[in-house]
Amino acid sequence: MKEIVVSGIRPTGKLHLGNYFGAFKNFLTLQEQFDSYFFIADYHSLTTHPTPGDLRGSVRRVIAEYIALGLDPEKCTVYLQSDLPETAELYLILNMNAYLGELERVTSFKEKARTQPNNINAGLLTYPVLMAADILIHRGAKVPVGKDQEQHLEMARTFGNRFNRLYEVDLFPEPMAFSMGESLVKVPGLTGGGKMSKSAGEADTIYLDESPETLKKKIMKAVSDSGEASTDGIKSQAVQNLFDLMGLVCKPDVISFFNEEHAQGRIRYGDLKKQLAEDMETFVAPLRDAITYTLANDKKLDEIAAYGAEKARKSAKKTMDIVRDTIGFKQISRD
Ligand code: TYM
Repeated sequence: MKEIVVSGIRPTGKLHLGNYFGAFKNFLTLQEQFDSYFFIADYHSLTTHPTPGDLRGSVRRVIAEYIALGLDPEKCTVYLQSDLPETAELYLILNMNAYLGELERVTSFKEKARTQPNNINAGLLTYPVLMAADILIHRGAKVPVGKDQEQHLEMARTFGNRFNRLYEVDLFPEPMAFSMGESLVKVPGLTGGGKMSKSAGEADTIYLDESPETLKKKIMKAVSDSGEASTDGIKSQAVQNLFDLMGLVCKPDVISFFNEEHAQGRIRYGDLKKQLAEDMETFVAPLRDAITYTLANDKKLDEIAAYGAEKARKSAKKTMDIVRDTIGFKQISRD
């Protein structure tokens, strides 16, 4: 049997370069080859308490972006997580065999607990359980995600295997984080830190519909080495980040040129950033046009979501019928 593909993105604002190269680009290839489910993780976004208006706006935006950037609702299933109450039910059931100790050890939880000490809610703690439910509800095996989700996928395997063992069934496959390339992707941000993320601030992030002016401004302001260029050939993290970003959008000969300049200790970061800004604009321009057009013109987003929900629920119901039966719910008169 062909493997099932499942992945989602939280509606926390516009999609950025990290979402695209870490996850979305793989969605586009996988929808051609596999039975694929791509959803908008609106339950997950509730951990940060968005207002109903903000949530609605972000969800609409991400659906529009999914479609504008090339997901085809006939080739894959595009839906909202909250249109699948089966996911919430499976989450509840998996929670019974998810332990406090292992949940507290998850890196993303520890990080959130540190950065938002006033809002360490149970949803944050059980975030990986809900993610496991998202995947296992379709018995997904291939999960296109960026490198930051690796540990969550490990947890999904743990929860699925634990269910299989506990009930002596072979229901859930082992979901694996997946990338078409050799390894999972981590797109760095512009401010010299780790991965690109909205929480690191506007200056860190390049959106897929960034205006030409803002795009250029952000890249020209990106953190690089200051003062003397290094002569030991070793790149600082901020400089490596710029080279990594070039790797996404620049031609190999351009990258070789700047690598050589760096090795010789004569690199001019202003030139590098100018080139990166130009090549990034070439990459972003068609995406920006498509997103802008879809947001302004597509009146079918509700229809697309309803169509996707129907397809997704069929698959989810199949799994939940087995889960409920396995656990011993219903069919009181049978035994
Ligand atoms: P989210 O919304 O934070 O990110 C969506 C996808 O984008 C990837 N990503 C990155 N990849 C590389 N470099 C970056 N800088 C970068 N920033 C974001 C993420 O790895 C992710 O693939 N928990 C998930 C959403 C989710 C999910 C799921 C995913 C909920 N349920 C089930 C897969 C399967 C999340 O927060 O993604």
